[in-house]
Amino acid sequence: MLSSAFLQAVVGRRSVYQIANRSPISDQEIRHLVSTAILHAPSCFNSQSTRIVLLLKEEHRKFWDNASNILKAKIGEDAFHGPTEQKMKGFRNGYGSILFFEDPEPVQALADKFPAYASNFSIWAEHANAIHQYILWTALSEHGLGASLQHYSPLVDSMVVEQWNVPAKWELKAQLVFGEPTGSAREKECLSVEDRILVYGE
Ligand SMILES: Cc1cc2nc3c(=O)[nH]c(=O)nc-3n(C[C@H](O)[C@H](O)[C@H](O)COP(=O)(O)O)c2cc1C
Repeated sequence: MLSSAFLQAVVGRRSVYQIANRSPISDQEIRHLVSTAILHAPSCFNSQSTRIVLLLKEEHRKFWDNASNILKAKIGEDAFHGPTEQKMKGFRNGYGSILFFEDPEPVQALADKFPAYASNFSIWAEHANAIHQYILWTALSEHGLGASLQHYSPLVDSMVVEQWNVPAKWELKAQLVFGEPTGSAREKECLSVEDRILVYGE
């Protein structure tokens, strides 16, 4: 059966939560992965509305310290302590975080230009953003980093704008947290392929 490097990377990508503050590749190489994803990911009508902020080391820890404090203030000390606090500490233990945003301007420009499809463009922008997330999740994994996808919006939105000079109009969609893996991915049950794919004409 086919087994390209690409397919092996697809199979190898998993959610890895046990990560350390180390990276087997350099910061420049991580930056290169991010640049490659943003240059080559497809987007609807080539609108290129995805934006990315890469946080490494101290900046990554700042994100998760701030996110923890915001979450604690929202849900209260009692609810925060225990599994939630451990989870946030686990993210902080990592090496970096990639924040994925959408710039609404190119999306609105498309809606103005093609009114018949106006309501679709924000949905397609989400799809394009997810493609960036997936490319980077898989690329990090292929280069020996463990990563997991997180969603702490809208809780952290204004903190991110203030801390990293992000345009307030950018909409934060997801956070990909990564670091050198110190544990394996969890067991995963897969539903039957036959129940999920229909093939005709084989
Ligand atoms: C769109 C999307 C949203 C997700 N959101 C979260 C999340 O907020 N937190 C989290 O820990 N994992 C999140 N995940 C990871 C999934 O739980 C995970 O991919 C799934 O259980 C399969 O495991 P695997 O990634 O190891 O293949 C998300 C995955 C996708 C595709």
